[in-house]
Amino acid sequence: MAHFRTLDDLGDIRGKRALVRVDLNVPMSDGKVTDATRIERVAGTIRELSDKGAKVVLLAHFGRPKGPDPDLSLEPVARATSDVLGRNVTFIPDCIGKMVEGAIFAMMPGDIALLENTRFYKGEEKNDREFTEKLAANGDIFVNDAFSAAHRAHCSTEGLATVLPAYAGRTMEAELEALERGLGNPARPVVAIVGGAKISTKLDLLMNLVKKVDALVIGGGMANTFLAARGEDVGKSLCEHDLAQTARQIMIEAATAGCAIVLPSDAVVAKEFKAGADSMVVAVDKVPADAMILDAGPKTVETVKEWIDRAETLVWNGPLGAFEITPFDKATVAVARHAAARTKAGGLLSVAGGGDTVAALNHAGVADDFTYVSTAGGAFLEWMEGKELPGVEVLKTR
Ligand code: 3PG
Ligand code: MG
Repeated sequence: MAHFRTLDDLGDIRGKRALVRVDLNVPMSDGKVTDATRIERVAGTIRELSDKGAKVVLLAHFGRPKGPDPDLSLEPVARATSDVLGRNVTFIPDCIGKMVEGAIFAMMPGDIALLENTRFYKGEEKNDREFTEKLAANGDIFVNDAFSAAHRAHCSTEGLATVLPAYAGRTMEAELEALERGLGNPARPVVAIVGGAKISTKLDLLMNLVKKVDALVIGGGMANTFLAARGEDVGKSLCEHDLAQTARQIMIEAATAGCAIVLPSDAVVAKEFKAGADSMVVAVDKVPADAMILDAGPKTVETVKEWIDRAETLVWNGPLGAFEITPFDKATVAVARHAAARTKAGGLLSVAGGGDTVAALNHAGVADDFTYVSTAGGAFLEWMEGKELPGVEVLKTR
């Protein structure tokens, strides 16, 4: 595995200013944080730096503002962070300049502050050198604990690591370790489950995975495109017919690489997409013309479970069916619980990520039983695509 400086490599940082990039891009409603998972994930790093006597200065973005925008202020997130930590977090209403410098000067060793949304400045997303230097002026060291923003080459995710001594935080460290064990250098056989609505958003990912894993289970709406490419009539199902050739290409690449492609053999179909709709199970070559596939069927679930039983490593992104709506959550829930049970029994290393996936695992009640669940969305996908993440690359010690 590539080498990173971590918090273990910090010397005496008492009184030093640690600029700590965290991902506080959390779901909010009516000015309140509705899911504090991302805050909880970085709490360990913040506490550790604070306990070591650093002035802990948190840097984060929120939303995608086009300039200063009071609706996208991090102030309410500072309160939520304070609640999670059980320690005071001072909000500083800017992220560069004299006022910020003064506020940080006044902090005591161990104090924690959160600066305003870095994306209020245009330079941030341009990775502008001048803006990087303005941010860096308020820090002695840089700690990046935001894997989920590491696919962005921004000043606060990449630039700062080029001008200040840079370290991976504890969450970044854990994430990189889990990902390395998942796909970088995994125990074989490796099974990947990829689901979700469309293949158009996951082409790079599928192409990369077939070269790396021993079996690729394809579920969700995107499986329909593969079934149609194979000649099945998928009725009214969501299907990207124009990508049939691409789907065939992926199957050819898989065959060449020795990767088994596991498609549904049966499906739960309904005439309408709504909770409690009348549904039935059919073989995938018997989908009625007026029905749509909304979940994988029980035979498919058994097949996927068998693959999981043979696997040493499982990487999962995307649900197997329309899990948000009952009864179309059954396949996702059954497979998630099976993978969780095998992980708990010590027989499987399981890594899952992506927004929908985390929601699906939470729905199945097993998110805590996987080896590692990433809170990253885009960054997790880019990692599965085999891409280099700028925020990670820059932390590697050469
Ligand atoms: C996320 O929520 O996925 C990360 O915080 C990155 O946000 P972005 O997609 O707006 O860069
Ligand atoms: Mg995103």
